[in-house]
Amino acid sequence: MSALFEPYTLRSLTIPNRIWMAPMCQYSAEGTGPDAGVPNDWHFTHYASRAVGGTGLVLVEATGVSPEGRISAADLGIWNDRQVEAFRRITAFLASHGTVPGIQLAHAGRKASTGRPWAGGGPVAVDDPEGWRPVGPSAVAYDEGHTVPAELGTDDIRRIVGEFADAARRALDAGFQVAEIHGAHGYLIGEFLSPESNRRTDAYGGSFENRTRFALEVVDAVRAVWPEELPLFFRISATDWLTENPEDPREGWTPDETVLFARELLARGVDLLDVSTGGLAPRASIPVEPNYQVPFAERVRTETGLPVAAVGLITDPVQAEKILTEGSADAVLIGREMLRDPYFARNASRALDGDIELPLPYGYAV
Ligand SMILES: Cc1cc2nc3c(=O)[nH]c(=O)nc-3n(C[C@H](O)[C@H](O)[C@H](O)COP(=O)(O)O)c2cc1C
Repeated sequence: MSALFEPYTLRSLTIPNRIWMAPMCQYSAEGTGPDAGVPNDWHFTHYASRAVGGTGLVLVEATGVSPEGRISAADLGIWNDRQVEAFRRITAFLASHGTVPGIQLAHAGRKASTGRPWAGGGPVAVDDPEGWRPVGPSAVAYDEGHTVPAELGTDDIRRIVGEFADAARRALDAGFQVAEIHGAHGYLIGEFLSPESNRRTDAYGGSFENRTRFALEVVDAVRAVWPEELPLFFRISATDWLTENPEDPREGWTPDETVLFARELLARGVDLLDVSTGGLAPRASIPVEPNYQVPFAERVRTETGLPVAAVGLITDPVQAEKILTEGSADAVLIGREMLRDPYFARNASRALDGDIELPLPYGYAV
């Protein structure tokens, strides 16, 4: 059988195959009122389709640990019981089809308070009903037109660490079996990691040890409430593409730092690194070609022994299979191709001699 269809066990959880859905914001929740951040019929249909499609693990999109942690008012949230209740319907359906339900816990930091991308995206004013003042490690705006974030004090940092832990508790209550901490794409944790966005002079800025402090505090707080038998993932931008670009004078987070950081994550009970790149600065030059992020994942896997998932323009089952058989990653995350084709995993199974069965209402008939 193809490597893609070999089950994968992390702690006590077995994921039935290695084709996983990447977290992708749907910008489809209510922004205000009692249903703010609550998954609705769109989210149910979107995630349920990928379970019917045979996906081994679905990572639900970046979900705000607090209202201010959403990148837009239309994001999902996991800060109240109403959200938990609505998530249960999704996780129960996924689990009943053998798909592991996972969730990405997120705080968008200074990138927050933006609009829905199909309505132009971009920053939403602080005084708009769907806007707010974003926060960040330092008072440095993400880009022109973005509000300068309020610099977080140490009490605020402690509160946000607690919000991640509360979100993890709620995620468990909602039926999720994998929690992923969003440390990539210039979200709050990534903002602390990179010297471009983190200009602090206290214990949370400056040296590698200080810039990684907030991230590791979040990991410790989440690991403390996330059950021993369930895996914890961390998504990182292995580089923010600043230091790699000779035309960009800014200093960024580097692949070497990612390797050092991955060792810390491993020691603290993170079970898998989801290796992405970029997102910190709008003008960073990102090369975009198939497998463009795979070498970063492979390097972490080889140099640290921490399991990794590869992501980024993986669109073809043969391509995905090769990433696994060449030892570059333990699993693949499929993003946009799974938007085009919710049955990506099932179709890969047909093409590559996999063992994904059709659900019974279809399977008995064809
Ligand atoms: C519509 C859309 C929404 C996304 N939302 C998120 C998100 O919520 N969290 C995240 O970490 N990455 C997000 N991403 C990035 C994807 O998870 C993935 O890393 C990226 O699309 C590259 O993979 P692909 O080439 O297979 O699409 C998003 C990407 C797209 C296209």
